[in-house]
Amino acid sequence: MKKFLSLVLSIVMILGLVACGQKAATTTASADGTATKLVMCTNAEFPPYEYKDGGKFMGIDVECAKLIGEKLGVEVEILDIAFDSLIPTVMSGKADFAMAGMTVTEDRKESVDFTHTYQKAVQAIVVPIDSTISSANSLEGKKIGVQTGTTGDIYCSGDFGDAAIERYSKIIDGFQAMKSGKIDAVVVDDQVASAIVEQDSTAFKILETAYAEEEYAIAVKKGNTDLLNKLNSVIDEIKSNGELQAIVSKYIK
Ligand code: ARG
Repeated sequence: MKKFLSLVLSIVMILGLVACGQKAATTTASADGTATKLVMCTNAEFPPYEYKDGGKFMGIDVECAKLIGEKLGVEVEILDIAFDSLIPTVMSGKADFAMAGMTVTEDRKESVDFTHTYQKAVQAIVVPIDSTISSANSLEGKKIGVQTGTTGDIYCSGDFGDAAIERYSKIIDGFQAMKSGKIDAVVVDDQVASAIVEQDSTAFKILETAYAEEEYAIAVKKGNTDLLNKLNSVIDEIKSNGELQAIVSKYIK
């Protein structure tokens, strides 16, 4: 009997180890196989979508992710990494999804699957308050600051050449560089531009003309239709019942 018990025990232990070894690096599964925790990767350098306030994650995406977690009955853990690491991290399975004011692009769609979109944005051009730059055309030959790997980076390097681009891992550093005269303009998502310029309205102005229009969505690992469908149903729900707008209105007046 003792022998039998210890055999059963070791089988249980081995099965347990196998189960642990097989599950995704991040997703914690309960006994029935449903996830109890989802890991979201983001880059918390992007107010009002994601930023840190006294060590606490805040912002539209952070609150939406929390709401998504509540509706799916799972805990959402946040992994704060560089923007250009988000897609590789989702691809490797180290995170279940990326939510970071991330624009849907054809290129990115080759690496990840995107949910339904949840916000519209435009790439804004921000210049020093006394600048003579008045449109995208007058950016020719100027130094342009962008966040590494963002659509601002991709579009500007394409349009104005690599030499014109100064890349920053935090866009706030681009604004600092512009303040000290090192660069002539910053190209960044409009709502982020507004949030930063609001804090420094005597130093910068946002040009009237938008540079590009885009839409944000959540990225999941290619082929993870289970999670994609779940996220889509929550996005649809919070878009139509006003919960998303309620969160947005807390951050964007
Ligand atoms: N929307 C732009 C993009 O997808 C910028 C996003 C930057 N997000 C961030 N959390 N830093 O490239």
